Amino acid sequence: MAKSALLKSSLAKKYWMAFTGLFLCTFLVGHLLGNLQLLLPVSEAARDQFNEYALFMTTNPAVMILSYVTYISILFHAIDGIVLTVRNRKARPQKYVNFKPSTNTRWASRNMGILGTVILVFIVIHMQMFWAEMKFGSLEAYSTASGAQVKDLYTLTIQSFQDAEYGLIWVIVYVISMIAIAFHLSHGFASGFQSLGVNHPKYNNFIKKFGYAFAILIPLAFAIIPIYIHFGLEKI
Ligand code: HEM
Repeated sequence: MAKSALLKSSLAKKYWMAFTGLFLCTFLVGHLLGNLQLLLPVSEAARDQFNEYALFMTTNPAVMILSYVTYISILFHAIDGIVLTVRNRKARPQKYVNFKPSTNTRWASRNMGILGTVILVFIVIHMQMFWAEMKFGSLEAYSTASGAQVKDLYTLTIQSFQDAEYGLIWVIVYVISMIAIAFHLSHGFASGFQSLGVNHPKYNNFIKKFGYAFAILIPLAFAIIPIYIHFGLEKI
């Protein structure tokens, strides 16, 4: 490919990475709000509420469309990320003489590819654990107090993190993955706005600060869920 065409395609890739990345940030907020229901004290009502919520999320047509956009965004973001990372490595095979990574650039910005890969592995494991079980597994279905026929995703989720043998391992896997997400977002959030062309001295500082707050608070709130289920919530 001619150099200018390569550059053009790299710019288009960066644009789509930013677009899908920022969309996935909105997914994270919605997913977190839904998952916070898992912190409710154990009861039949809490179980019904979470399972009815999961049923709504998988059957409501508007939410289903959003879900497909989410899956496509994850694929697009991951594939583009891998291509860009490989391309950048090839373009700069030798380190600069004055290359002092720790002082010149932040650790996260230099390791977006590795962080993204860790997150992708997490998403595959995570979807296999819950989403695939709900869609294709043999999860027990029951009738809630309001008469809805639901699969018992609540019990599956709580038991996964409370399991005597593997529960703690899952908690550790989730916490490490949330740390990777935090670092990925600490660079990715503000960088996404830059790639989309939102670059104005008036807003840059705010976007950067908001990005850091987002990168800390969202993964922290996610991490609290398995930790609390394992150590704090009544055993089921
Ligand atoms: C620690 C906290 C988390 C818990 C307890 C959790 C739990 C679940 C459960 C129960 C499901 C299936 C039902 C549903 O769609 O709501 C699900 C789906 C999913 N989760 Fe998570 N999740 C967590 C964190 C994350 C994170 C951090 C990501 C992304 C980086 C993620 C990505 C997904 C995706 C892509 C789906 C499929 C969603 C869909 O079908 O629309 N989850 N999660």
